[in-house]
Amino acid sequence: MNMSNGKLLVVGELNVDLILNQIHAFPQLGKETIADEMNVCLGSSSAIMAANSAALGVDTTFCGVVGDDDFGGFILRELERKSVNCARVKQIPGQKTGCTIVMSYGQDRANVTFPGAMHALTLHDIPFETPSAYQHLHVSSVFLQQGILRDIEQLLIRAKAAGMTTSLDLQWDPAEQWAFDYARCLPYVDVFMPNESELLALTGAESINSALEEIRPYLNTLALKMGSKGSMGVRGDQQMMAPAFEGKQFVDAIGAGDSFNAGFIRKYMTGAGLEECLREGNLMGALNTTAAGGTGAFDNRQQLSEHIQELWGIELSLP
Ligand SMILES: Nc1ncnc2c1ncn2[C@@H]1O[C@H](COP(=O)(O)OP(=O)(O)O)[C@@H](O)[C@H]1O
Ligand SMILES: [Mg+2]
Repeated sequence: MNMSNGKLLVVGELNVDLILNQIHAFPQLGKETIADEMNVCLGSSSAIMAANSAALGVDTTFCGVVGDDDFGGFILRELERKSVNCARVKQIPGQKTGCTIVMSYGQDRANVTFPGAMHALTLHDIPFETPSAYQHLHVSSVFLQQGILRDIEQLLIRAKAAGMTTSLDLQWDPAEQWAFDYARCLPYVDVFMPNESELLALTGAESINSALEEIRPYLNTLALKMGSKGSMGVRGDQQMMAPAFEGKQFVDAIGAGDSFNAGFIRKYMTGAGLEECLREGNLMGALNTTAAGGTGAFDNRQQLSEHIQELWGIELSLP
């Protein structure tokens, strides 16, 4: 077993976000409309989780694919700027890097995603040597990555065989097929990290309680994200609610779930108990909402500690 080298491996999708703001009208076929503001930034849930883990001082390596185009180069530079190790990010010749066009209208956004190279990541790109160079494997956004979805059970089995602990955030399935065999796969997932709507959609249950009964036989630990209510933890016959930190200086909740994952997993990797992990997840989720996008509140370790101290009076001990 390899419980203490402190290295995190994140397997997931990569894309740029091209965000249009202050758009004069809704897009209409055959017409042209103007946006007064545009930003191009590092997108993808997995990248937010990885970047924010690194910001919290976790030694983080990303495993994913981009194309050999300008967007691919941009993503690699951004990840490296955020101290994420990119040795396992492949730039595939002839592939196009994934891109999400975000049309932002106040609180609401219409997104169009081109997955591009995302589908090209497979089981064979993931380092499973024994003993593993990594303590923990986090897999995210499975439905956006056909090459990963196809072999997800094998992937998790191999990660466990290599001595890693594992966590999984499926994220939403845009096709709403939910082709993830939880009865077979969850036994190899140490921490399962859905939000409420994803858990309901996956199980087809009417309520969270019946969804819990549905997955309980296969479950190790559940960290269920519940927005401004906080999170729920389930492990064996333990079930606990961890209240959210009061939303202060709220800007948006983009990436809150990914920041929750970063906080929870950082604690989990130190061997902390469930309650402490949930609390740290909630804290990072709440911090995430104080700045625009998923990584805005995590730019600088010193500043994020001070910000948490100022907003919630909590002293973080970061490396
Ligand atoms: N408005 C909010 N105020 C305080 N904490 C929040 C708020 N929204 C989200 N969080 C925190 O972030 C976590 C993840 O957010 P959530 O929206 O549930 O996940 P996801 O982004 O995956 O849908 C929540 O469990 C909670 O701890
Ligand atoms: Mg999420």
